[in-house]
Amino acid sequence: MALDTIPAEERREVMEKTKLGTFGGILRKKSPEDLMKCGGNKLEKTLTGFDLIILGVGAIIGAGIFALSGTAAAGSAHHIGAGPALMVSLIIAGMACSFAALCYAEFASIIPVAGSAFTYTYATLGEIAAWFIGWMLVLEYIIGNITVVSSWSGYLVNFLKGFEGVLPTFLTSPPVWLVNNYSTSVEKYKHIGVENFIVFLQDKFQALGLNPDSIKETFTVSNFDISAFNPAVFARMGFDAELLLNPASQIPHLGPLPIAINIPAFLIMAFITTFLFIGIKESAKMTFAMVMVKIVVILLFVGVGLFYVTPENWVPFAPNGMKGIFVGAYLMFFAYIGFDAVSTAAEETKNPQKDMPVGIIGSLIICTLIYIVVIAVLTGMVPLSQIDTHAPIAAAMTSVNQHWVAFIISIGAIAGLTSVLLVLQLGGTRILYAMSRDKFLPPIFSKIHPKYKTPYINTLIVGFAVAGLTTVLDLNAAAELSNIGTLVAFMMVCAGVRILRKTDPDRERPFRVPFVPVIPILGILTCIALIVLGLPTLKTLIIFGIWVILGMIVYFSYGYKRIRASEEC
Ligand code: ALA
Repeated sequence: MALDTIPAEERREVMEKTKLGTFGGILRKKSPEDLMKCGGNKLEKTLTGFDLIILGVGAIIGAGIFALSGTAAAGSAHHIGAGPALMVSLIIAGMACSFAALCYAEFASIIPVAGSAFTYTYATLGEIAAWFIGWMLVLEYIIGNITVVSSWSGYLVNFLKGFEGVLPTFLTSPPVWLVNNYSTSVEKYKHIGVENFIVFLQDKFQALGLNPDSIKETFTVSNFDISAFNPAVFARMGFDAELLLNPASQIPHLGPLPIAINIPAFLIMAFITTFLFIGIKESAKMTFAMVMVKIVVILLFVGVGLFYVTPENWVPFAPNGMKGIFVGAYLMFFAYIGFDAVSTAAEETKNPQKDMPVGIIGSLIICTLIYIVVIAVLTGMVPLSQIDTHAPIAAAMTSVNQHWVAFIISIGAIAGLTSVLLVLQLGGTRILYAMSRDKFLPPIFSKIHPKYKTPYINTLIVGFAVAGLTTVLDLNAAAELSNIGTLVAFMMVCAGVRILRKTDPDRERPFRVPFVPVIPILGILTCIALIVLGLPTLKTLIIFGIWVILGMIVYFSYGYKRIRASEEC
């Protein structure tokens, strides 16, 4: 049903109900009926409960487990690690998600329209809160996909390295600055510099008849502190330390501007955008194939890895105590993002009342179990200080000389990450679609393609935005930012369930959260705990603050006025 087919009387009724009240109407709400009426059914209804579980698992298992688990367990220059206790972190993060998932499921069964938490908030907390949450979801999906696409690119480079001597060198060993952004390129060059230095020292030790392995115990790439060395010392030792001292010198510059661009990220985003442009059912089919591949490789990792588990590696279990566990939980929260993307496809689902809860909760349970087993095997196989922080799962197999398994895992990771890209990109475009339809954003974001029935311009904009932003945000920074936006969105959804139960107790709820208000309150508390106890860097909080202020400026200068200037719902 198109907007213009809604009878004028119904449209007036909606506007009447939502007319301005206190604070210029920024707190006014739209009832679930109105949201559905205004939402119309312009998108095609093709998805089933099974499709939704696939969509969910497709969105969930990705960069979190394939890339972030390394730094979350071992730590990095910016934060401490959880150690093997990352298994506990996963349970904490999973708990926050389960509470929120139940609340999402209740809402998705009442208001099955595109827009997810944005739409739910509009029904319960009102206009300004809806805008705020929509703005948070942009962080979740669009910034989150920067992490995923960066990790995708990293795994592709790893995979191509396996074809040395078969493929041209520019494919097997591309320049670092053509497959990473500036800050990551600098990190990687420095990393290469440290590795060179370690090898140099080992050779020296060997020549002197000393044990070269002791060098590896003293210096690791993650603990190497350049400030402890005087540059003159390197020169005296006969070591060319240019890479270590000035890694940025390796990156070409155009005047003052460094050239570092993640080309694989641009290519895969062009591919994903084309798919989403053509249509959602095709996307779901492709996601299905990729989900299967990623589940098979994870089972392969667990099956082979189990034979290499040394229980001593699980001791100490929590080297950084509760703080490490919470930092790990905050980071690994990213690994769960995506189950809520299922609810953004509500409008395209055949029987949303029944299928939504099945899709959301089913996919979350499957993924939690998989994660705990994977982390148990990973931390049992590899001593903490040797866990790779870029591609930990594949590297764990390389470390036990299972090169062919590592190779297959890289293929699975590429497929798995592609499916996450697809689903998050789908979520991001549908949020913007819903926000534009509700007049918070320009109409261009809800323009539907006449043939493919997809919000095509919006799809193109988001695709380009994600690819472009990989040049400024690195994998970890994007994950931290995406997480904080998502946690805030989750809290508001939990609050929303409680509020709607109070304000509209008699409404039919095909799926009901049990033990209200306990579950929503626990959901809010666990999300707060993750932010307060786990947020690794202050920088993320500052960028988040700037994002919130920017959002308020956009709302008051655009959405607020357009909503009031419009006669339609
Ligand atoms: N949960 C998704 C991932 O880990 C976003 O990549």
